[in-house]
Amino acid sequence: MSTIKACLFDLDGVLVDTAKYHYLAWKQLADELGFDFTEQDNERLKGVSRMASLDILLSIGGIELDEAKKQELAERKNAWYFEMISKMDASEILPGALEFLQECRDNGLKVALGSASKNAMTILNNTGITPYFDAIIDGTRTTAAKPDPEVFTLGAAEVGAAPEECVVFEDAEAGIEAARRAGMHCVGIGSAETLGKADFVVSSLGDMTVSRLTGIAVS
Ligand code: G6P
Ligand code: MG
Repeated sequence: MSTIKACLFDLDGVLVDTAKYHYLAWKQLADELGFDFTEQDNERLKGVSRMASLDILLSIGGIELDEAKKQELAERKNAWYFEMISKMDASEILPGALEFLQECRDNGLKVALGSASKNAMTILNNTGITPYFDAIIDGTRTTAAKPDPEVFTLGAAEVGAAPEECVVFEDAEAGIEAARRAGMHCVGIGSAETLGKADFVVSSLGDMTVSRLTGIAVS
């Protein structure tokens, strides 16, 4: 049996709702390219890296492009997305997130970010939650995207916790898989239908308390 020493949080969909901005920016790109991109399509991009997201988008539109053109489109999408997240503030922190981050800190747990996003720092700073983190691992510090465990393995090392002492909070299947491959416990944020591989699933961090982590440590 191990005790929990660290909580590792995904960003998009766990601490803040940026999926709507990703959607608007990808939709603008799809509109320009001349095909429809629905909110249901957008579900497939959650937790997926920027370039892999573009590949999925282009496959929906039945479009094939060379690398240079793909880079250009990804940069265009990101410029629109960046404009939107630049206007974010603390009101966009998801319900219960701040309270749970604070409860983790009050209980002496280390707190780390494990996000695929290269824009994570902008979002953390604009919403004011940067000071809650002992370690921040984002898309600028990783080479392999989830479901590769790299982002969580780096976070655990930076806060000095062994994998079995870590709990990952994730809203995407690829993130749950990454946590599992890292040998960590995992709480799904969202629906049990898609996140069945987590130790347990809650609808938001508003349903989380540190005492709920005690049960996980023996599983
Ligand atoms: C998160 C989001 C994805 C996004 C990825 C990269 O994982 O869930 O939808 O594609 O980050 O984000 P970025 O800000 O680097 O484009
Ligand atoms: Mg996410």
